[in-house]
Amino acid sequence: MNFLLSLFVLAVLASFFTYRLIIYPIFFSPLSKIPTPNFLCSITEYFSHYLSWREQEFDWLLKHHRQHGPLVRTGPTSVSINSVEGLRQVYMSLEKHPFYAQFHNYNDIPNMFSTLDSQRHSAQKRILSGIFAKSYLQRSDDIRSISEEVFDKRLAPMLEHLADAGRHVNVFELFGFVATDFYSAYAFGLDRSTQFTQNHGHENRPYITGDQQSIYESKDPRDRVWFPEDECLALCKETAKTIDEKQSPGTTSPIIFEKLYSHLSTQQPPLPKDLILKTCASELRDQLIATEEGLAIVLTYALHHLSKSPTLQSRLRAEIKTTNTTDLDALPFLNALITETIRLHAPGAGRQPRLAPSQGMTLHDHYIPAGTSISASSYVLHRTSSVFPSPETFNPDRWLPATEEMKRWWWGFGSEVSCGSVQGV
Ligand code: HEM
Repeated sequence: MNFLLSLFVLAVLASFFTYRLIIYPIFFSPLSKIPTPNFLCSITEYFSHYLSWREQEFDWLLKHHRQHGPLVRTGPTSVSINSVEGLRQVYMSLEKHPFYAQFHNYNDIPNMFSTLDSQRHSAQKRILSGIFAKSYLQRSDDIRSISEEVFDKRLAPMLEHLADAGRHVNVFELFGFVATDFYSAYAFGLDRSTQFTQNHGHENRPYITGDQQSIYESKDPRDRVWFPEDECLALCKETAKTIDEKQSPGTTSPIIFEKLYSHLSTQQPPLPKDLILKTCASELRDQLIATEEGLAIVLTYALHHLSKSPTLQSRLRAEIKTTNTTDLDALPFLNALITETIRLHAPGAGRQPRLAPSQGMTLHDHYIPAGTSISASSYVLHRTSSVFPSPETFNPDRWLPATEEMKRWWWGFGSEVSCGSVQGV
């Protein structure tokens, strides 16, 4: 009797799970009516994770969006969109997917990128928007001093030296160093900035001078670690001390740190000092990483295309030589070159998941239930051939001039204008 009862319970449980995990998602879920590239997508998210791990996910998405249109099911509770209308519906109002929480720093201290709640996210964004505005950056004496130091005094002599010596240079790594030096100077002040650029190429290169330990122990860029948490916190503590003790900021001011620190230090009720410092460090570490990766990828690919085409090089040189403005918007070819580089080689090409709201929503005439992960990918958007003919061809001229349609489909900075304005694209 006991045996029969156990068998019955097992059969009920097996039927329940078979229904919930296989039959319902394949046949009855509202998402089941959406084109599904592989039946495995209906029952497990791991199929697309596996493709991501094999670095095949974006090409797979591209193929299926081309085949099935703007909406594709990628998992039992996830879909991918590829349309301007979809971008507007999803990225203007929906909350970030919990996926982003893995980017908190210092265990659980959020930053702008990892903040899920949209109101907190907007509040955080507002604190920094002024100092990243293009007009502010263009007028800033600090930015001028930092540019002179990093580009004229560190980078240019090093490149000349390498060229004279006929030595190769890993430009991906180098651009990451230049970007980190530049950003850390704007964040913490020039005197406390990293000095990766001029130390590049040294045999025993400590990438941080002074007493601090080397950040990157290995010479192989594939072994690199992200800017370590303790290094970033140490920089925050050092910078806070100069502010608290009203010391001179040094050659340039710690613009980003100061903005965050003074905002957090005036909160009511007051926040513990340790939390203030870690919150600043969480934000700045995330931005240091974003700067290093984003700029290194874009500049490396831009250089790659330039190095293959003497014509592109001379057009760029001619444009820069004939212009005597500091306004980068007045250089259409330079802008076209960068925009096209990001179109074809977008850092952070996807998938930027958002969560369907509690009442669900309708996307391209399909009902999307609450909690569904909805995402888009610039890799796919930027290869939509009705908007970008011959999408795999690097062609800056396609942006001279750009149609409104092209501008709407270009999603290089996602829907985050915060870092787009930094780049001035
Ligand atoms: C050409 C270079 C860059 C590209 C192509 C780029 C691209 C992107 C993309 C696609 C996103 C959205 C990611 C997502 O939501 O999953 C993003 C977000 C972000 N980027 Fe960049 N980025 C670049 C440079 C930078 C720089 C220099 C900074 C330094 C401040 C930065 C800071 C951020 C931050 C803080 C976010 C999160 C914004 C938010 O959630 O509101 N990025 N970036």
